[in-house]
Amino acid sequence: MTPNLTLPVERTLRLSDEQIDRFARLGYLVLPGFLPDELAARLRREADRWVDEGLREKSIASCVDPDTHGLPPVMELELAAHGELVGHEPLLDVLSQVMGPDFVFHHLHSDRQRPDVPGKPWHHDYEQRPQTDRNHAMIHTLHYLDGLGPDTSALVVLPGSHLEVAGKDARGHLGTAELPGEAVIDHLPPGSTVVLHSALFHARRPARGGLSGRDRYFVDASYCQVGTAWPPVKPYWRHMLRRARALGLDRGRPELFAERHFTEYTGPA
Ligand SMILES: [Fe+2]
Repeated sequence: MTPNLTLPVERTLRLSDEQIDRFARLGYLVLPGFLPDELAARLRREADRWVDEGLREKSIASCVDPDTHGLPPVMELELAAHGELVGHEPLLDVLSQVMGPDFVFHHLHSDRQRPDVPGKPWHHDYEQRPQTDRNHAMIHTLHYLDGLGPDTSALVVLPGSHLEVAGKDARGHLGTAELPGEAVIDHLPPGSTVVLHSALFHARRPARGGLSGRDRYFVDASYCQVGTAWPPVKPYWRHMLRRARALGLDRGRPELFAERHFTEYTGPA
């Protein structure tokens, strides 16, 4: 049989030693235009559906009040492109280079944020209760499907703060204020990805233009290094992992959706 030579080849990205070292020291890595255009376009269409059909709200309701709402009718990873993103080989390859080859998927969020979306105060997202150490890596991959610009909120990060052991909201009283040493990420081309150590303090700083700006398409997928038990953030986390396995999203990586890397769900952090 003649091989189909038109099949797209997924690009892998070999990080330089300097990039890997910067990630270890600073806690983040910016990958402009990392996602293939066609994947970003499909993700955008799915994010529109996710928001416009109320699926996002239903998934939030199932997290906030699972007794009343039960399982969400659809989860992010059940949308075809979102499911593809979770196991996108170039992405997993980057993760392997910064935290080693053994990690498990933690969760996925998708949103289309309005131009007047409020800021999100300084916080981190490292899941550990209580916060005691940083012995294992947890990484959030932040995907800006339409990029970032002056007409969208910016991502601001505090380089090196992932090395502190602190509560998620230890800097929350500062709101989204400018902090000494911060790095502002406010110009990115479409399909860009920021690889963020989950313990790195970061904030969403609103655009100045309010409603005159544009929507901000934002998908985040997080992953945890294996070797410890991680607290889940969704009450239906077992269902989520089971569906991911059933859909074959692991692409031959048996640990990617393995339940044994998690503690029981005990409620919101
Ligand atoms: Fe965050």
